[in-house]
Amino acid sequence: MARRFYVTTPIYYVNGVPHLGTAYTTIVADALRRYHLLCGDDTRMLTGTDEHGLKIEREAVAKGISPQVFVDDMSGRFRAAWPELSIEPSDFIRTTEPRHTALVQELWRRVEANGDLYLGEYEDWYCVGCESFKTEKELLPGNLCPLHARPVERLKEKTYFFRLAKYQEPLLRHYEEHPEFIAPEGRRNEVLSFVRGELRDLSVSRTSFTWGIPAPGNPKHVLYVWFDALANYWTALGGEGAPLGCYWPPEGYALHLVGKDILRFHTVYWPAFLLSAKIPLPSRVFAHGFLTIDGQKMSKSLRNAVDPLRLARELGADVLRYQLLRAIAFGQDGDFDHSALLARYNADLGKNVGNLLSRTLGLCGKVTGGKTPAFGAPTQLETDFIEEYTRRVGASRAHWEALEPHRALEEAIGLSSAANQYIDRAAPWAAAKADSPERVGTILATLLEALRGLSVLLWPALPNKMAQMRVQLGITPLAPAVGVDLWPMRFEPRAAGEALAASGPLFPTFDKDAEQALLAKLAPRVDSEKPNVPVVQAAPGTVSYEQFAALDLRVGVVKTCERVVRKDKLLKLTVDLGEPEPRSIVAGLALTFAPEDLLGKRVLVVANLASREFGKGLVSHGMILATGPSEALRLASVPDDVPVGSRLK
Ligand code: MSP
Repeated sequence: MARRFYVTTPIYYVNGVPHLGTAYTTIVADALRRYHLLCGDDTRMLTGTDEHGLKIEREAVAKGISPQVFVDDMSGRFRAAWPELSIEPSDFIRTTEPRHTALVQELWRRVEANGDLYLGEYEDWYCVGCESFKTEKELLPGNLCPLHARPVERLKEKTYFFRLAKYQEPLLRHYEEHPEFIAPEGRRNEVLSFVRGELRDLSVSRTSFTWGIPAPGNPKHVLYVWFDALANYWTALGGEGAPLGCYWPPEGYALHLVGKDILRFHTVYWPAFLLSAKIPLPSRVFAHGFLTIDGQKMSKSLRNAVDPLRLARELGADVLRYQLLRAIAFGQDGDFDHSALLARYNADLGKNVGNLLSRTLGLCGKVTGGKTPAFGAPTQLETDFIEEYTRRVGASRAHWEALEPHRALEEAIGLSSAANQYIDRAAPWAAAKADSPERVGTILATLLEALRGLSVLLWPALPNKMAQMRVQLGITPLAPAVGVDLWPMRFEPRAAGEALAASGPLFPTFDKDAEQALLAKLAPRVDSEKPNVPVVQAAPGTVSYEQFAALDLRVGVVKTCERVVRKDKLLKLTVDLGEPEPRSIVAGLALTFAPEDLLGKRVLVVANLASREFGKGLVSHGMILATGPSEALRLASVPDDVPVGSRLK
């Protein structure tokens, strides 16, 4: 029976670009989406961007642009990033979209109509990083936010309060009646003890800035950014009575994946708002742990943040997806280690699955002329292997259901190891020598069926590689459909005589040298000298270290260069910055340089400057650094052996 499965990621703040932490949740959500598609479930995945609030407003002001221009640009980066990681959400919501704002206001009205809002004044410590008030008890010495290690601010303003205290009992009852609502178990206990403590009413509107959704009936207030953001899971479905409402309980199953830092918002505030508005609660909130990078804490300033897009471009999205899903126990903290990634790739994918495929197809090429052989009389070896196949396929499925992707994939790789052992035991080459074509056929047909099964089991993590594997196996691409269960629960070897299409290795392994070269390229930019102290507010006329670090200054090489008609000062260039496509950049260099002077030149580029239009269709996506008067410019540069794409710090 097809189930309705709705999986959501947090919507990401647009004050930074996608990093490994945000990619992690989104990859897990996509893998779950793919798993449910394979089961024939009616599946929907939502992600998006959280664009209101003080943090965003300040960031835009610091950049000297309007918040709307800023969020448009940044949200676009998130939207564009996910397909590069083979993430295909069904919907992408932005909190600045009218479809969202209208429904958030409806939610507010419903909460108000239920008598759960009242006006008052609030004074407490506020962390702009968390967009959340903090009690004195929660702060570190020096009034620092425990999560951001930055000073909190004292805020006092008129606000609407939400009667959170009123929902203490209903929340506790819900947790008790739905023990699966909060997972993993340890997190559930944390929430329970928080809610059993003193639950204070929550400030849900702000009057000291304007970048938010106006409160219905009192536009001096904007809605608290978390009230606004949490509602996205519901507004994206179109609100009550909308056709997509069927993905929300009671008809559908709604799963929120969140990081452990935002669990309270999702398991206390969000359900309380919904209870007040008389909307059913989501089915489950699952909190995952935090990633560290090569043993170091991943820093918000992105100094050591791994760029998931760069990794995907270097190694393919599947390799990154596989490592995140397989190496980190979902729910626990985990380390993302570059050498471990390559080691696991070589072991699990190169030497295990890849080897199984090439051995099997190689033998088929030699023995059966590249066609599927007939599956004849099984021996004990086949019977044992098929038993293991069935057990592992079932176990893998059970692990996906239990939100344990790491275990689900472990079973799949275990199946591949078992198939490799089976080849060694069954020794098809000996049977070929002994001139037993039927026996060889049975062994190869068994292996081909195991590979077909693996192409399904590994698809949620490795969609591109498994599509390529199916091409080599001569089978059609996976085409999930609602109500059709594609999980390979039964072992059914294919008919004889179907064409196979072996080609090069699916997972070419890295030897020591290739590994060293890759590691040097991928190593995160850890700034070990950076003292682990809170950032001091930048003095007027200076920039803070964080502001400097936010600049993406990169080494590029000029690929093409031409004059711009009727713009004497401008040149239009394309510059390779180590990205898949060269950047188009328009620069005021024409009074000094002829286009041919610049071809092949190394240049320094501000790579994350907001795009700027110089005329119709003439858009610059970066700025080239130079010094001197317009007629005698000198380009800023670095020695020629610095690789293209290197970042300045
Ligand atoms: N905008 C809010 C969420 C609103 S949802 C209604 C927010 N955004 S965020 O961009 O700061 O963080 C989004 C998610 O990224 C959180 O779940 C957070 O836990 C996760 N991660 C950020 N850094 C992380 C790691 N280093 N490791 C794993 N995930 C982490 O909070």
